Amino acid sequence: AAISSASQDTAITALVSKLPRREGWSQELVLYKNYWINPLFVQGIMRLQTSFKPRHDDIILTSNPKCGTTWMKALAFTITNRSRYEFGNNHPLLSHHPQELVLSMEIHHDTNDELNYLEALPSPRLLATHMPLSLFPQPSSIAIGGRIVYVCREPKDTVVSWWHFANKFGGGEQSTGNLESAIDTFIQGFSPYGPFWEHCLEYRRQSITSSDKILFLKYEDMMSDPVKHVIKLAMFLRAPFSTKEEEDRVPEEVVRLCSFEKLSGLRANQKGETIRTHDVVLDKSAFFRKGVVGDWVNHMSE
Ligand code: A3P
Repeated sequence: AAISSASQDTAITALVSKLPRREGWSQELVLYKNYWINPLFVQGIMRLQTSFKPRHDDIILTSNPKCGTTWMKALAFTITNRSRYEFGNNHPLLSHHPQELVLSMEIHHDTNDELNYLEALPSPRLLATHMPLSLFPQPSSIAIGGRIVYVCREPKDTVVSWWHFANKFGGGEQSTGNLESAIDTFIQGFSPYGPFWEHCLEYRRQSITSSDKILFLKYEDMMSDPVKHVIKLAMFLRAPFSTKEEEDRVPEEVVRLCSFEKLSGLRANQKGETIRTHDVVLDKSAFFRKGVVGDWVNHMSE
């Protein structure tokens, strides 16, 4: 098995090296099946396509980067684990970054050990990915009963959020370029996991025809009425709040625990590194900036 996985790695590296490449966004991106993706994450996606074994009860959180992934990880983790963890001092979110509690499938997937790790997770698995729907390993989890939650966000806020994020790990504006050029290339479809529009539309279209399998949410709607969306999310994840829980204001507790104010103020989310994939090291705090709707007005004209 070791020999075959090593030869698979070599084959994948060779395939990725032949893909069209372009510099930008503080990282080089390759064009893989119509999407611009970090070459190392493409390798992760290819490995998933050959080796991932979907389960009928998988829950997969999906999004374009910077659209609210961290928030959704916190919410889905809290909702689905609420019978295991009370909201007191021992709740895992108080001591762990949301990115550590819910793994991003292709990003952590750079070795077969990690593939084995996904395989070893108990059911039901709560996973996340930025993969476009069309790149999902087949048969996809939803074809056998799994569920997908997609978070979409106003693209102007997304690009502003990305630019600040990329400046934190990519050597600042020198490597990302100025915001204006970042916006230009984003609009052309050249951004990590871009084109942004196609990514959203694939999930949006499928959520209309398969509303029991894909829940399509918007960051702005969630911000304007988080309790309503937490109740909707719990229902979709087959973990609805009971009448008693609603009377006890458990949905409100979930919203409070997962709020930007609460999470960004925790030491667990402020100090140290959260993800070390290949050469990219991300500070835990990089996932929390402003957490507001409409920040784009501070960065660009109408
Ligand atoms: P801003 O840069 O606009 O502040 P992702 O998690 O997909 O990387 O998205 C990051 C964006 O979500 C950042 O947006 C970040 O501040 C915001 N965010 C992080 N945690 C949040 C939370 N609990 N509630 C609302 N927004 C949150």
